[in-house]
Amino acid sequence: MEALLKSFKDIYGDKEEIRVFQSPGRVNLIGEHIDYNGGLVFPCALDFGTIAIVRKREDSIVNLASTNFDLKVEVDLNDLVYKELDDWANYPKGVMKVMRDHGYTLGGMDILISGNIPNGAGLSSSASLEVLIGEIINVIFNKSSIDMVEIVKMSQEAENKFVGVNCGIMDQFAVGMGKSKKAILLNCATLEYKYADVELGDYKIVLMNTNKRRALNESKYNERRAECDKVLEIINSKRDNKIENLCDLSMQELEIYKSSIQDEILIKRVTHVIGENERVKDAFEALNEGKLNKFGELLTESHNSLRDLYEVTGIELDTLAEEAIKIHGCLGARMTGAGFGGCAIALVKLENEEEFIAKLTEVYTKKIGYAPSFYSSGIGNGACELNLVNA
Ligand code: GLA
Repeated sequence: MEALLKSFKDIYGDKEEIRVFQSPGRVNLIGEHIDYNGGLVFPCALDFGTIAIVRKREDSIVNLASTNFDLKVEVDLNDLVYKELDDWANYPKGVMKVMRDHGYTLGGMDILISGNIPNGAGLSSSASLEVLIGEIINVIFNKSSIDMVEIVKMSQEAENKFVGVNCGIMDQFAVGMGKSKKAILLNCATLEYKYADVELGDYKIVLMNTNKRRALNESKYNERRAECDKVLEIINSKRDNKIENLCDLSMQELEIYKSSIQDEILIKRVTHVIGENERVKDAFEALNEGKLNKFGELLTESHNSLRDLYEVTGIELDTLAEEAIKIHGCLGARMTGAGFGGCAIALVKLENEEEFIAKLTEVYTKKIGYAPSFYSSGIGNGACELNLVNA
């Protein structure tokens, strides 16, 4: 924090009247690629993420600097348009634009951002930055009157419409609404949610990064979304009362439509979607009842479905998940986030953690050619202002 305050002073002259905000990364325990199908997801906020030091200005200029990127950007609030050259600053700009469009008050600021979510790891560094900016504008210019769920929705809108990534609502929701030691069971069709205690006893969730760059990610993500839209269209063409989301169907009901869908690939995709939604309910229950073996099995089933039916894993994620469950003390493992690289999680007995990491590093490196990374994280709180004394 001291170093960050010094950087702020170096960039912006002095550090009088500054305020500090934080926003976490997220990990999804289970419920993958179903947020945009109106399904249930079960993410939680990490205890690391993004920090911003902010000072209000009296004009309409927002200065954006980051300790993670060399690029500094000066934004005029009267000219909020997407510019390729503005790179990372397009995320904050997008949130500002959407908030202004929704009628909220904005003003000038000097901002220094510092993130410790590894880039491209699938732990939602972009959602973390978006919700962070939303909360800053909420507190500094709108007397904290904006509901966090509104900020979450506007952050997603910024990513969809301004940045142009067609993501669902899960990441922003977890980042905005996260609560220490709790996972969030979120119904993405209604945005109803409840918190669940994550009591893992002698076990913990180990975060494992494939360290694979996610180059193809975005186009494949959009391709999967389009496939789901196609299935929904076919199913609705056979129904009088239309459904809004694929997750409105049960596995039994799906059987009726398989002959109309015909296409094997589309059948695989929708089978994942409906199966995954069922698994989230079961996983929530298993965790509540302390049935960790069952919870672990569901994690592994989820991975297998994402690998075989939804086809969003790849050799790196498969190696991590498949080798993890062979190691003593691991009850289950799966990819988390969009897939094709990024991170996986494993449920591992505390006393076996060290050995687990050593063994998995060895087999993974042998097969893939470079090492994975491992992170330890507790479950943290959603985006908020930090009291400078505690910051
Ligand atoms: C990305 C998206 C989320 C969600 C996941 C897959 O993280 O941003 O909305 O679709 O992929 O579950």
